[in-house]
Amino acid sequence: MEVVIAPAPELARLAADAVEALLRRRPDAVLGLATGSSPLGVYDELARRHADGGLSFARARGFMLDEYVGLPREHPQRYRNVIDAEFASRVDLMPDAVQGPDGLAADVPAACAAYERAIVDAGGVDLQLLGIGTDGHIGFNEPGSSLASRTRIKTLTEQTRIDNARFFDGEVERVPQHCLTQGLGTIMAARHLVLLATGRGKAEAVHQLVEGPVSAMWPATVLQHHPHVTVLIDNAAASRLQLADYYRGAYASKPAWQGL
Ligand code: GLP
Repeated sequence: MEVVIAPAPELARLAADAVEALLRRRPDAVLGLATGSSPLGVYDELARRHADGGLSFARARGFMLDEYVGLPREHPQRYRNVIDAEFASRVDLMPDAVQGPDGLAADVPAACAAYERAIVDAGGVDLQLLGIGTDGHIGFNEPGSSLASRTRIKTLTEQTRIDNARFFDGEVERVPQHCLTQGLGTIMAARHLVLLATGRGKAEAVHQLVEGPVSAMWPATVLQHHPHVTVLIDNAAASRLQLADYYRGAYASKPAWQGL
């Protein structure tokens, strides 16, 4: 696990660099797309590189991490609509290139199984963008999630609904109770995981993720078992790390050839 501590705009550029390097190497790459505020700077940077630098997503595909259950098709906070607005519509991804779990499916287990198959059929995710919840969730894998879980329905914790109420005019009751999310096992199958976190509110979750014992109580800790994880955090999110100075030094003296 590599930990990079830098100001937020620099973190967004580094994540965009990783996506760009992947697309230049493999134009038909499979991207794992996250919602929430953490990746927004990355999407802005990628949209800018598309507009200014000709970075093309025309052959790429995307798979979303998660989706609310039951939000109407046109609801602006339906993650499918969020990803279109924040990213897909701003680059040259093909209209059907992005898929997400179907939060309106009549047969939820069948829809989740189909989603798992679609990811495998696409060859798996090359680079997965991730945020982290204040309770250590990734995707919507709340505390207690099986570390081997696959795409399935989950119940959101009260804390997550409070955290996400800001997207629903501050009204917690309007945040759905259920979601579909890639499981921790699904996320772990991606080849490169790039997690972004900023702000003091994420400091404890980041400390657990990087330095805590692997535990379903802090679901993101499962990433310690992944061979290629990049954790991009600002000073505030790094404020509880015991080995922060070591991570800073290691990044500063990293061989130039190594990349993320
Ligand atoms: C949300 C999303 C996650 C996201 C996390 C953090 O509930 N389901 O994918 O990573 O919570 O969100 P934010 O980046 O807005 O802090």
